[in-house]
Amino acid sequence: MASYEDEDHTQDYLFKIVLIGDSAVGKSNLLARFARDEFYSNSKSTIGVEFQTQKMDIDGKEVKAQIWDTAGQERFRAVTSAYYRGAVGALVVYDISRRQTFDSIGRWLNELHTHSDMNVVTILVGNKTDLQDAREVGTDEGKALAEAHSLFFMETSALDSSNVKAAFETVVKEIY
Ligand code: GTP
Ligand code: MG
Repeated sequence: MASYEDEDHTQDYLFKIVLIGDSAVGKSNLLARFARDEFYSNSKSTIGVEFQTQKMDIDGKEVKAQIWDTAGQERFRAVTSAYYRGAVGALVVYDISRRQTFDSIGRWLNELHTHSDMNVVTILVGNKTDLQDAREVGTDEGKALAEAHSLFFMETSALDSSNVKAAFETVVKEIY
């Protein structure tokens, strides 16, 4: 956690939060929805690392979340240790319409815990709830996995915005 003085000398907090999960689960769109209220129906795979700093109001205090986003695919990813360094929060994302992405969660959690502090505040996120008809992973399954690993849990849709803000806020509130 970095703490610094800004121009008007108020104390601000900067929290690094990482997005992880398989390719095409919607990590970049969750970030685009949260930071800019945008959605891209034809977004390309992320290459390297991108991040956005988002101001949030938590209990009347201004908090800045620096949210990092990289590719789910190994060949497009940045140096893993640098990506996780200093992270205090994580959103581990799967796609409720593709079971394979849910089956990968264990590996993502292993990687997270290999490269960051065990205390990193983590939320399991089942994205694309707008695709109800194509659902392959039940809400109860997501909830059970989260409980087994002591993670927060939420289902979201970057497309229709549901729970996107809530998912990021859950992490930041717990860090703060
Ligand atoms: P990588 O960068 O390759 O790791 O993928 P990513 O996890 O960043 O996925 P991205 O945000 O690029 O989204 C992949 C595809 O899923 C895009 O076509 C998005 O439009 C779509 N998508 C993302 N979120 C949602 C959602 O909530 N609902 C639906 N229906 N589609 C979504
Ligand atoms: Mg991406």
